Amino acid sequence: MAKMHKRHDKSDILIHWFNAVCWVLLLLTGVGLIQNPAIDPFGSGYPEAMRSLVGGGGNLLAIHEGIGLVWIAGFILYLIVNFRGARFFLAEVFSVSPARDMGWMLKKMVLMTLGPKPLKAMGMDPELPAQGFYNMGQKAFAQVSVAGGVVIAVTGVIMYLSDRTFGAEATGWVSWSIALHFIAVGLVFAGLLVHIYMAAISPEERPGFKSMFTGAVPDDYAKHHHRLWWEKAETEGEQPTE
Ligand code: HEM
Repeated sequence: MAKMHKRHDKSDILIHWFNAVCWVLLLLTGVGLIQNPAIDPFGSGYPEAMRSLVGGGGNLLAIHEGIGLVWIAGFILYLIVNFRGARFFLAEVFSVSPARDMGWMLKKMVLMTLGPKPLKAMGMDPELPAQGFYNMGQKAFAQVSVAGGVVIAVTGVIMYLSDRTFGAEATGWVSWSIALHFIAVGLVFAGLLVHIYMAAISPEERPGFKSMFTGAVPDDYAKHHHRLWWEKAETEGEQPTE
């Protein structure tokens, strides 16, 4: 059997798929709450159908809020269960080495769209700079989804409470929350399209996809895609994800 490297703890895998399911449900219910013919992403038939499915707009809002609160509770639980893993994840995704990582990002985009020729023509080595536990593309998406997630959760809670406790003096806060909630969802969603393509469809990343179920990747995949992490694991042993 090929040598494997542990990449994700069970709780990491669980929170990832819990988050993905919540996102799908929150998007489906959230988009159904938008009833403005000028901006309906799926046309006005969709919000109507969603509302009649659950017995009206009030119920749809209650379901959206309920899933949102469960989503937040899931993350709080994860932080309690695996604080070390969360700290490792945040330290990894927010540490950027500008020369190495920007070089990786630029080359990766050229390689994926035009191939190695333009890089060679410019006298550049098409080989990608070595990456750590996450590559710069994964880090960029993780940064957007962490920051976006916090904005979505905080603004969501403000809107939730505004229906119940806040008075008229909070109108400014609530308007800002609505705008920021939309902007953050839009940004994370844009990244999500690339994330799903890279993680689940691109054949190169298939071992990474499998690791989101099994928790481990083969040695050669770790060596070629995450060289700095692989070197560290070889010299210092595996790093904690739990
Ligand atoms: C349903 C579709 C999804 C699929 C198929 C998917 C797949 C994956 C896979 C395979 C990985 C592991 C990559 C690795 O270890 O190298 C991963 C990691 C990750 N996923 Fe997802 N994911 C999905 C949805 C989401 C959603 C909705 C979010 C957040 C909004 C998200 C956020 C992340 C983050 C932050 C990571 C770690 C960094 C990264 O590898 O990009 N994922 N995902």
